[in-house]
Amino acid sequence: MSGKDLHSKPFDEGTITKLEIFENYAKEWIPTFVMSNSVKAIWIFDFFAGTGYDLNGVAGSPIRILQQIKNQTDNISKQGTKINVCFNEFEKEKYNLLEESCKQFLSDNPELERAGLKVYYRNADFAEIFPKAIKIIQKYPSLVYLDQNGMKFLSDKYFLELEKTKTTDFLYFLSSSYFWRFGNEKVFQNNLNIDMDKAKRNPYKYIHKSILEQLRDRLPKSTKYSLYPFTIKKETNVYGIIFGASHPRAVDKFLKTAWKENNFNGEANFDIDDDMDKKQLDLFEGKKLTKIENFSCALRNSILNRTIKTNKDAYTFTLEQGHIDVHASDEVKKMKKEGLISYSERTPLINYDQVIKKKRIIEYKINQP
Ligand SMILES: C[S@@+](CC[C@H](N)C(=O)[O-])C[C@H]1O[C@@H](n2cnc3c(N)ncnc32)[C@H](O)[C@@H]1O
Repeated sequence: MSGKDLHSKPFDEGTITKLEIFENYAKEWIPTFVMSNSVKAIWIFDFFAGTGYDLNGVAGSPIRILQQIKNQTDNISKQGTKINVCFNEFEKEKYNLLEESCKQFLSDNPELERAGLKVYYRNADFAEIFPKAIKIIQKYPSLVYLDQNGMKFLSDKYFLELEKTKTTDFLYFLSSSYFWRFGNEKVFQNNLNIDMDKAKRNPYKYIHKSILEQLRDRLPKSTKYSLYPFTIKKETNVYGIIFGASHPRAVDKFLKTAWKENNFNGEANFDIDDDMDKKQLDLFEGKKLTKIENFSCALRNSILNRTIKTNKDAYTFTLEQGHIDVHASDEVKKMKKEGLISYSERTPLINYDQVIKKKRIIEYKINQP
């Protein structure tokens, strides 16, 4: 693990991407629970919180979390939801800066504490604080950030404990290229058993995705958790976020956050599948399909061969494939326009509200020629 002091230099572009995803997800997550009449208290844990700001005063994860809570203070006061946040940082000097930055933010924005926000600061090793924190995480809807420097805390001891909880969404950060370089070394294998030969079957740029695929295999068969990757390339190194959640609403919101970050592939801060090249006709192979075109094609075929019969089937397929509802709606509308299918409503109703919340299920009927 690198011991570099984040506060002593500016965040790089890849770090900003990570922080934007962290923040945009909090922006979606907080109001979901604040506005739910059945939830009385929620928790946010930022276990590797850093110092609060970088050298240029750009906000790190803790300040971004506070900012997103601030944006919801009216709703929080109205609904009476108790918001609890725990910021943890191991290094004493960084911890001092963290506490100072957050306290300053709270004093500049007194409406946060007026709305009942409770912030807990901890200066502990994650390995020590986790067994205590997990008891809270098991009890309350929780958003958990694990912005570690390396990959150590992805081991089963923590990862599978989080999987056992019911209403936790987590965002892990890991240095995936460490695996590529050192994955076979004993210290790595003791921590996290990854089949490196398998992981290296795909090109280096896919290392984060390959690790995620192996993590999926480690989840119990009965798991309700889904995992999604977002690869972040910084110069020659590959890092990434692993998002995990058990509820389709959470998955939907994460995928919207990720596609907002990159509207070509929704899974990386660069053109991971060379989709840009696929826009042109290849002289020898014809037109190659981009990620969105591939998905549209698979959805179309599944509707035509009746594997997908309803808007619910289409919505489930869309999330499973790591896409957003609008990609599916566009294709289904196109199929209707082409006279291939018909359905009773004006729109295809492929979204969370219609399918899961309102349970409005419609069938897509194949038109006979
Ligand atoms: C990638 S940085 C986190 C950056 C932070 N999220 C931000 O936005 O600025 C990882 C942080 O974890 C801290 N850290 C390293 N090992 C730790 C441990 N075992 N427990 C808790 N914190 C640790 C480091 O000092 C560092 O500040």
